[in-house]
Amino acid sequence: MKRTWIAGLLLFALVLSGLDTGYAIAAESQGTDSNILIVYFSRVGNTDFLDDIDAVTSASLLKDGDKLYGNTQYVAAMIQQRTGGDLFLIETEEKYPSVYEQIDEQGGEEHRNRVRPKLASHVDSMDDYSVIFLGYPIWYYDLPMAVYSFLEEYDLSGKAIIPFVTSGASGFTGTLDTIQELQPNADVRPGGFDVKHSKVAEVKQEDVDK
Ligand SMILES: Cc1cc2nc3c(=O)[nH]c(=O)nc-3n(C[C@H](O)[C@H](O)[C@H](O)COP(=O)(O)O)c2cc1C
Repeated sequence: MKRTWIAGLLLFALVLSGLDTGYAIAAESQGTDSNILIVYFSRVGNTDFLDDIDAVTSASLLKDGDKLYGNTQYVAAMIQQRTGGDLFLIETEEKYPSVYEQIDEQGGEEHRNRVRPKLASHVDSMDDYSVIFLGYPIWYYDLPMAVYSFLEEYDLSGKAIIPFVTSGASGFTGTLDTIQELQPNADVRPGGFDVKHSKVAEVKQEDVDK
């Protein structure tokens, strides 16, 4: 039984569109992989979970053996394996609650008040990167506010940004436009992963390789 739900949770739905855009850039960048940064925000890494957390009831978590993954973290790790880029977690100073209703309360309040959470993690030398994969879960049909904090911290002019997203069902919503507004001189590319829980299919390494 346990194995079944673990396997089930490891299954993602993929809605891929225009894969030739973003991932082609990464493919071109192979061999000079230090210019690729995979930035992501995820519940895991921003929440203190109990060791014995029941991932099934936690709505958006994956458990693989002893390791707990956030959905976005999982996809980010796949992209990292494929591209060899550097992985960077957007980490907030204040952690989010582990109970889903409470994170909903905190996240909702941040969203309504357009709060910019203080970040605990910072990219040392953004100048080193020309391609940035940017992954986030959809929160309230929008970027999580921590991603606004990230995008307002750096000048990403001239860089290619390839957003990828995980969500219950919303998909990218208007977040590509939002990212472009926050970084008007960056080249924001459509075509990144759009992964939903509702359609169950497995994200495989081969999908990233396309
Ligand atoms: C605070 C909060 C708000 C959310 N809002 C939405 C939403 O508006 N639309 C949606 O489809 N999913 C929404 N979700 C679901 C997440 O986008 C989804 O579970 C995502 O895959 C979580 O990724 P993570 O495990 O990397 O944090 C929300 C989740 C949370 C915790």
